[in-house]
Amino acid sequence: VRIVPAPRSVPEAVSRPLGPPAGFPVVGMVGGGQLARMTQGAAIELGVRLRVLAESSDASAAQVVPDAPVGDHRDGAAVGAFAAGCDVVTFDHEHVPTALLRSLEADGVVVRPGPGALVHAQDKSVMRERLARLGVAQPRWRVVRDTGDLGAFAGAVGLPLVLKTPRGGYDGKGVLVVRDLADAGEWLARAGGSGLLAEELVPFRRELAALVARSPSGQAAAWPVVETVQVDGICREVLAPAPGLDAALAVAATDVALTVAGDLGVVGVLAVEMFETRDGRVLVNELAMRPHNSGHWTMDGSVTSQFEQHLRAVLDLPLGDPRARARWSVMVNVLGGEHEDLYRAYLHVMARDPGVKVHLYGKEVRPGRKVGHVTVTGDDLDDCRARARHAADFITGTIDE
Ligand SMILES: Nc1ncnc2c1ncn2[C@@H]1O[C@H](COP(=O)(O)OP(=O)(O)OP(=O)(O)O)[C@@H](O)[C@H]1O
Ligand SMILES: [Mg+2]
Repeated sequence: VRIVPAPRSVPEAVSRPLGPPAGFPVVGMVGGGQLARMTQGAAIELGVRLRVLAESSDASAAQVVPDAPVGDHRDGAAVGAFAAGCDVVTFDHEHVPTALLRSLEADGVVVRPGPGALVHAQDKSVMRERLARLGVAQPRWRVVRDTGDLGAFAGAVGLPLVLKTPRGGYDGKGVLVVRDLADAGEWLARAGGSGLLAEELVPFRRELAALVARSPSGQAAAWPVVETVQVDGICREVLAPAPGLDAALAVAATDVALTVAGDLGVVGVLAVEMFETRDGRVLVNELAMRPHNSGHWTMDGSVTSQFEQHLRAVLDLPLGDPRARARWSVMVNVLGGEHEDLYRAYLHVMARDPGVKVHLYGKEVRPGRKVGHVTVTGDDLDDCRARARHAADFITGTIDE
């Protein structure tokens, strides 16, 4: 045995993140959540360097991205310093203020999607106005500032109706179903100058999502339209493609997403959440301009995942094939439950069903929080769904066999 002595000091270069090989770009993603974490998987495969502006040093993506400075996405100096080391800046969430993004662009930073497009994913009222001008079908809506406004709108669409904070909502947190006008008092009082978005409550048949990607050169690619299942405002399951969806309606939904992407000048992945009405129409609920929960199935179920596609798009590379690799893909979210330790479920889940693909995000378990997802692909929808649900429920801890 030959014992090699340890070096006395670690050379400086080893402790600093190394730059990418010659010619390869650095993509900066603002936000260190699970979307950035999963983008890192695709970046590794492409040999592209991902840099993340993380909210904390133990954020989901910061655990797996070596170059992940900690900073606040609302702090111009922090975002500016972060962007200086990137060839293009993109997002894991939509909370970076528009004015900050505009000043980055003025300083020569390449921001994709740009602030002019992104604002439609940041502000639901702005989105409603723009889609109305585009002639895209959506629920009846009105911006309301007081009980008088709301009462007039309720007179037109009836009760219950839906009230939304235009900015900052997620997982249904900015959504209130108003059954009685008095329910809205507190929300209206807190609303501020820009008011609230009121919408008719759509008695939808189900929810759909159309996911597309668009590059700066104008190339676009669309994945199959999926069905999303929300419980208490949180996405639970995604079925790809949407079972039994009328072919013409699938085309219409895809068309809406491509129109929105083109007209708003979106770069990267665009998710268009929609309601399928009982009379066979699609109404747009909201937009997201980043990889989206409705596209997690693409990691295991399509030729090109949404994370790879987002990188290709923001780098203006040719887009990849979005087609499904299996007849069905079912994705079920793993929400935080009773178990702190999720790894203990692996033995059982993996032994029981080698076909289940598990993705956990390195996040601390809190009740109801999205901490991972599982995907099962195959020829039989019911079988895929049962297996994916079982695995997710077992990891969460709601079942124990
Ligand atoms: N006008 C409406 N009619 C009926 N249901 C609605 C309406 N608007 C929202 N919902 C329900 O509430 C859910 C959350 O609404 P929305 O997507 O606007 O909120 P969010 O908090 O921004 O959600 P996300 O987690 O997608 O960011 C929808 O998926 C849908 O189930
Ligand atoms: Mg939504």
